Amino acid sequence: MNSAPFPRRILLGITGGIAAYKSAELVRRLRERGAEVQVVMTAAATAFITPLTLQALSGRPVRTGLMDPQAEAAMSHIELARWAECLLIAPASADFIARLAHGLADDLLSTVCLASEAPLVVAPAMNRVMWQHPATRANCAVLAARGARLLGPADGEQACGEVGAGRMLEPPALVEALAVTAPAVDLRGLTVLITAGPTREPLDPVRFLTNRSSGKMGYAVAEAARDAGARVILVSGPVHLPAPAGVTCVRVEQAEAMRAAVLQHVAAADLFIATAAVADYRPAERAAGKIKKNGERLTLDLEPTPDILAEVAGRASPPFTVGFAAETERVAEYAEGKRRRKKLDMIAANQVDDQGLGFDSDDNALTVFWDGGARSLPSQSKSALARALLALVAERMGRAPVSA
Ligand code: C5P
Repeated sequence: MNSAPFPRRILLGITGGIAAYKSAELVRRLRERGAEVQVVMTAAATAFITPLTLQALSGRPVRTGLMDPQAEAAMSHIELARWAECLLIAPASADFIARLAHGLADDLLSTVCLASEAPLVVAPAMNRVMWQHPATRANCAVLAARGARLLGPADGEQACGEVGAGRMLEPPALVEALAVTAPAVDLRGLTVLITAGPTREPLDPVRFLTNRSSGKMGYAVAEAARDAGARVILVSGPVHLPAPAGVTCVRVEQAEAMRAAVLQHVAAADLFIATAAVADYRPAERAAGKIKKNGERLTLDLEPTPDILAEVAGRASPPFTVGFAAETERVAEYAEGKRRRKKLDMIAANQVDDQGLGFDSDDNALTVFWDGGARSLPSQSKSALARALLALVAERMGRAPVSA
């Protein structure tokens, strides 16, 4: 699905961080895939791993300085920028991401990045607090909006002793991700509004009604839309997923709050994708105090929640609307009925009783329906599925596909 030819000439930029030790293995793995690898290191990177190690592994002299007349004579920074088919910055420190975002060109690596038209792939690695900092978030958003691809970071134990998001992806994962670099769609210039996750409808101050939605599908759609160059606003119910880099994430709990957040942003949206498993009913009244147990049978009075998707699709000039439908039987009939009833441009249906597919799993399969057509997207990872879905959406919106 969507695989691009593996880049033949990769400029690997290594910046200062403890994850630089992984770059040695990364060079080997990239070369195993047949790529030529030219390493460019920042001054800080050379404190973590020696240029000699990387020269031996890459088979090419490592470049570190901008003002080295001898090296510049062999291949100038402009020639390096033209040579590269792909710029991979791994590890990318918080500082280097900030410099990229601002277009600085005060050392060789930042200059090459500014002078190159090759796709930019960034593998962040830093302390989890630095990663969560609004400054880093904003810088990543700037890079993503320019079409840079952010890979990771992963969650886990950090060299600083903390645990959280900020570890560089392992070299095999980076190499695999490079094999599917090219987004199949170009959504630059579009604003995409996405709902994801479950909602929580309170019964009293300590209890609520909710469902099993993990938010994984919606988050994958948000990342795929971001990678395709869109401005992405993700309205998310309570989930255990970190906010994707380069995406505006609005966290809500109740259906009513999700509706309010959607209505606040919908006028600016070109595309609305409702992946959220919004609770269909909520307690008609929320008890002010904890409901006491008295041994008697208890009946809950439930009322319907607002249908956010139908409301958006029913606007005077709605964005292109895509709904999701989880069905246990007669998928085509029910999903297509729902699409017509809610006046949607498209609906993506999944069969939820398929073992391991649907809620909370990493894989899923969808059948997508639109006016006069349908297509099955077979079982695959939710991120691959999200790209395939966006390719279909872009086609229906009349946007030209990107040639691989
Ligand atoms: O009617 P049903 O709940 O099956 O429709 C599912 C689709 O509608 C999903 O796209 C879901 O995000 C959206 N939805 C909504 N607001 C609701 C219920 C569902 O946006 N209250």
